[in-house]
Amino acid sequence: MANENRSSFTGKLGFVMAAAGSAVGLGNIWRFPYLAAKYGGGIFLLVYIILAITFGFALMTAEIAIGRKTGLSAIGAFRSLNKKYSFIGYLAAIVPVIILPYYSVIGGWVTKYLWAFMTGGMAQAAGDGYFLNFIGASTESVCWFFLFIAVTALIVMCGVNKGIEKVSKVMMPILIILSITIAIYSLFMPGAMAGFWYYITPNFANFSVTTVLAAMGQLFYSMSLAMGIMITYGSYMKKDVNLESSVSQIEFFDTGIAFIAGMMVVPAVFAFSGGDASQINAGPGLMFITLPKVFQTMPFGGFVGGAFFLMVLFAALTSSISLMETVVSIVCDKLKMKRLTACVVVFVVSLLLGIPSALGSNVWSWFKIIGMEFLDFCDFISNSVIMPIVALLTCIFIGYIVKPKIVTEEVELTGPFKRKKLFEVMIKYVAPIFIVLILVTSVMSAFGIFSI
Ligand code: PHE
Repeated sequence: MANENRSSFTGKLGFVMAAAGSAVGLGNIWRFPYLAAKYGGGIFLLVYIILAITFGFALMTAEIAIGRKTGLSAIGAFRSLNKKYSFIGYLAAIVPVIILPYYSVIGGWVTKYLWAFMTGGMAQAAGDGYFLNFIGASTESVCWFFLFIAVTALIVMCGVNKGIEKVSKVMMPILIILSITIAIYSLFMPGAMAGFWYYITPNFANFSVTTVLAAMGQLFYSMSLAMGIMITYGSYMKKDVNLESSVSQIEFFDTGIAFIAGMMVVPAVFAFSGGDASQINAGPGLMFITLPKVFQTMPFGGFVGGAFFLMVLFAALTSSISLMETVVSIVCDKLKMKRLTACVVVFVVSLLLGIPSALGSNVWSWFKIIGMEFLDFCDFISNSVIMPIVALLTCIFIGYIVKPKIVTEEVELTGPFKRKKLFEVMIKYVAPIFIVLILVTSVMSAFGIFSI
């Protein structure tokens, strides 16, 4: 099945950096700190870690293993394991097609803020209304989106080794150093320690079933699961690389950076707001409205803010690269297109699909689907609907159709599979139940019946 000519990552480090690069993204930085602050601090962290090493571990292992076993991207991988089930691959393939354009629109915003901080524009960036004016200025937001997605395409065009692996090996270590440095700096702000304790102390009063559901939803998105990314990256993984320990390392990275992002954001916002935890909001408001104001009050704030946006840019780029690579790889495999041609096609289509998101808060604000702006709708339909369905189908497929052996044998190529029993129980029984719960609650919350 595996194709001899397929590119591959040079070794374990290259694979882990690229996969961790995909996992570590905007979700770690703007969503995790907010959820942790909202759902009981330390207790949320604990729940998240337990889920990562059980549920997340099982799903990620399954995806990487079927990618490596078949040597194909999502559609081909499902198809070659069982022809009747190639529809799961098609469904998974839709997700990156939807996410890439709007993720790149947000990547464009990050690039714009980095530029603003680098060129001494912090005071304006921290000013009231700056963000809304910017995303409302139609040509400007489209230009930054274009720049971001063009850089992504250029890296993907350079290939798995010379593009993705090389860039990940440079960007990921810089990202780690920057995030630790900024976190330490932010802890030294007057009043920040209270925020730190708030962040890590378990608060049982804020713990509920919703905590577990919120942690699970976050985990899914954060580990780039259920959209064919890990299948594609797995197909570029060499057979002699230890799959189980690679998954542990990717999880460690992803959870570690999410935790550090919280140490950067929660204490800094606490210090800035005089202990008002409600200022730690989710989404664009935190990163583009609150944080620039926080940086402005810090000594050397222009510098810290610049470093922060550089770090976020790296996180977003390595994620958008994985999204584009997944689509490119499917186009190459399916349509037998040359890589370069496929890159150009995917680039142009994503550009067109991203324009409604880039314009959604301005000239296209009339364009709403179930009451949501185009960008929010894309986010909802991919994360809250299609991804849980794909994950559920993947569990059923592995657990009951092709049987977990397909995965366990692949893992055992390099030695014993230590968490084999855990894997089997998770994929067959626990994960499907969890996933149905995520699906139901996230759809209910989108329609306002339930709040996460
Ligand atoms: N895992 C990324 C994050 O945490 C998000 C992402 C989703 C990246 C989908 C690529 C694809 O932000």
